[in-house]
Amino acid sequence: MKKFLLTGLIALCLVPVSTGKPAYKNPRLPEEKRVEDLLSRMTLAEKVMQLNQYTLGRNDNVNNIGEVVGKLPAELGSVIYFGSDPVLRNAMQKRAMEESRLGIPLIFGYDDIHGFKTVYQISLGQACSWNPALVEKMCAHSAREARRSGIDWTFSPMIDVARDPRWGRVAEGYGEDPYVNGVFGAASVRGYQGAGLRSLDAVAACLKHYVGYGASEAGRDYVYTEISRPTLWNVYLYPYKMCVDAGAVSLMSSFNDISGVPGSANHYTLSEVLRDAWGFDGLVVSDWDAVRQLINQGYCKDLEEASEAAITAGVDMDMMSHGYDTYLGDLVGSGKVPLSVVDEAVRRVLRVKFRLGLFENPYTPEEAPEKRFFLPEALETASQLAAESMVLLKNDGVLPVKDVSRIAVVGPLANNRLDLLGNWKAHGEAADADAFLSGIEREFPSAEVRYEEGCNVRGEGDFSAAVELARWSDVVVLCLGEMLNWSGENTSRSSIALPAGQERLLEALKAAGKPVVVTLTNGRPLELNRIEPLANAILETWQPGINGAGALAGILSGRINPSGKLAITFPWSTGQIPIYYNRHKSGRRGTQGIYKDITSDPLYPFGHGLSYTTFEYGEPVCVGAPSLGAPFKVEVKVTNTGAADGLETVLWYISDPYCRVVTRPEKELKYFEKKLIKAGASETFVFEVDPARDLGYLDGAGRYFVEAGEYHIFVGDKDIKLQL
Ligand code: GLC
Repeated sequence: MKKFLLTGLIALCLVPVSTGKPAYKNPRLPEEKRVEDLLSRMTLAEKVMQLNQYTLGRNDNVNNIGEVVGKLPAELGSVIYFGSDPVLRNAMQKRAMEESRLGIPLIFGYDDIHGFKTVYQISLGQACSWNPALVEKMCAHSAREARRSGIDWTFSPMIDVARDPRWGRVAEGYGEDPYVNGVFGAASVRGYQGAGLRSLDAVAACLKHYVGYGASEAGRDYVYTEISRPTLWNVYLYPYKMCVDAGAVSLMSSFNDISGVPGSANHYTLSEVLRDAWGFDGLVVSDWDAVRQLINQGYCKDLEEASEAAITAGVDMDMMSHGYDTYLGDLVGSGKVPLSVVDEAVRRVLRVKFRLGLFENPYTPEEAPEKRFFLPEALETASQLAAESMVLLKNDGVLPVKDVSRIAVVGPLANNRLDLLGNWKAHGEAADADAFLSGIEREFPSAEVRYEEGCNVRGEGDFSAAVELARWSDVVVLCLGEMLNWSGENTSRSSIALPAGQERLLEALKAAGKPVVVTLTNGRPLELNRIEPLANAILETWQPGINGAGALAGILSGRINPSGKLAITFPWSTGQIPIYYNRHKSGRRGTQGIYKDITSDPLYPFGHGLSYTTFEYGEPVCVGAPSLGAPFKVEVKVTNTGAADGLETVLWYISDPYCRVVTRPEKELKYFEKKLIKAGASETFVFEVDPARDLGYLDGAGRYFVEAGEYHIFVGDKDIKLQL
């Protein structure tokens, strides 16, 4: 009897009790039931409004409609929220919850790219840490700051493979390799969403810019991209598949024209690939005004046609072009756009809102800033990420700096805090950052540290005081680089060289006869062929965020052994661009097909990075009999043959030298691992090769194939040849 009663009691709990509330408001119902119930109650006008995103909290940009709450429609689907606290956001949410007929919450988006208030190393620098677990932790800290400040949805990670450093947005992604963008993008997704989308420690991720934006012709932003289907699949779509599989709930459609069909009207990428092939059920938001830009791109004659093209292709939400709110109702009414297309877009928006728990918890707790920002563990992560991402490009032995009593610190980035934050610094402020000069003063308490700017970031200034200081010193630390707004959106440059005045300052200091350590703070690879011969050492700091100074100083003193490696090639000259490691092979070898006026080799290749110790790679060995039919392992022993403990990243590449379906790159990175190796000790690194994942390639239709034949596995300077 008891068992019967207990069973009955359990059954009762499972039956959704009619609470008198409409089904979509019942959190105990399955998500899809709630979506369908709500959709069935919505008018066409209400459906259309869910597919629009405006802005809130900022009115200092001609593109933004900085409105206060009363002027925004209560039925709106989403806003980009520029505030850094929940008050205004909650006021707008209250309007949506209480003044709209169905009380559908807004979703609040924002560009929390590499930190919301605590600003971390830029993404390109993060990739040079080769530590995805650390990036995941950073994104989790960042998600917590953002969600507790009113943001439910971040427009991040940017996973656009980029091989042209003239394109300023190279700063925002993870470099030139598809696999690296996929690994760090997936780590970011886990960081952002890992606490669970209903949690106040999570935000929805948004993969961008879908797809191929990094292929912008001649490095100019927003322009045409010529992308063949095999390249589309193996280079540009590749990281997106990894990140969709990691659970990202949204994507942002891109500006660029993809070989004749713009990214924000491309049915093939947005529907046939993303929905049909990959089964993605989240939402796609357009990039800013990208629907309207279909007109400029010559794809549509007016905004009505552009709206029809975008919604039909698979762009669910229109960011700021005001096409959907203006024309979608009539497009459905006239039959040009089937209601089913709008319904499916609305389902995707509602699905993400349900997953975020916004119907149950539409408001953000209004906590004090000190409870939301700069938590100790976030600051520690900022320091560690800055330290592990800096790349020692050159060192003639001058580093680490030891036994000096006079240090001259010079340059436009030496006593500069703002430009260390990088582009898309969100709510980060210069006052939050530590200047390199301060870090050096703290790091070398027994030395006398003096400072002269020498020139401003444009290279203008009188060098004499700086040269005098160099003469006084035992060593010069010259901090060169870019302003934070020299990279990021709409910052394309025809040359990736630093301003000539900065180079002249180096020449003048070098003439003073003292060793010069050059530090670089920049958002893209630079042309360094005139700097390299003059510098005794070159340390790439990227744009390291608020705690870069301690990391830089720690590397200068040797307290930190640098472990960063380049995730993007540094050309010898701008004229070599595009230049990247995983290029296809040439029909000519040796002296043919290379430049006649300069070297055809990069100055610093992908994977380059020095340490204060040395590592020796043993002969890699296969464990067991490798075959295409099952995973197999390859191992290599790496020995730290120096006197300092060091972190080493082992990069594993494969090559399929002869492929009849489509030619493949000279080599392809397929795995990496970073470990600490104590001085004198050895560590074994293992690559578990799964042929079904690591050895194959995608044809122009996205079909994965693995050919029998010769393969190579490269690790360090070693190469294993396999017949599989
Ligand atoms: C911008 C950028 C995109 C950003 C969006 C919202 O134009 O292209 O990366 O997320 O607008 O700010």
